[in-house]
Amino acid sequence: MLTRSQIRTLVELHGHDIIGHRHMRIERACYQHGAVTTFAHSIRVACLAVWMADRLHLWRRVDLHSLIRAALLHDYFLYDWHDWDDGAHRLHGFTHGGAALRNAIKDFRLNAIERDSIACHMFPMTPKPPTYIEGYLVTMADKISATRETFSMDRFSKPQLPPRDGRTRTDVVKGTVDAAA
Ligand SMILES: [Fe+2]
Ligand SMILES: [Fe+2]
Repeated sequence: MLTRSQIRTLVELHGHDIIGHRHMRIERACYQHGAVTTFAHSIRVACLAVWMADRLHLWRRVDLHSLIRAALLHDYFLYDWHDWDDGAHRLHGFTHGGAALRNAIKDFRLNAIERDSIACHMFPMTPKPPTYIEGYLVTMADKISATRETFSMDRFSKPQLPPRDGRTRTDVVKGTVDAAA
């Protein structure tokens, strides 16, 4: 059975180019649930998905590389869904799987398992179920992590996050990001 640190090492090994990509700066600067950033949430989902595959003895049926990469990119929508932005994110729950896939395809070479798992990770909120077992692991790990993060008491002591790459409407209104930056 894999230990926590072995799982973490596997995630870093298979996802190093994703974790180190410049667009991850946006994920590090946006809260996803409670006091957890989208970046930290994605790492948690990847680790939990690997843990579940391991404990369920699924390694004959699961591609570890695709599982980790799909989990790391499942929320690669690259905006803060809490921002109003003229209502652009009203349907975030239904649309962000597609947005994450569109962004991920631009930045990385993805196989069919990874693409499908990212696009369908919000099932059953979105109608199409995942095609592959890796997608089911991602969507289950996502729901467990999101629930834990949302109900954690840490949400009441959120640290200030670094500024994002791109300015949002909220940033402009609040003047939190230097327009010249
Ligand atoms: Fe998501
Ligand atoms: Fe998620």
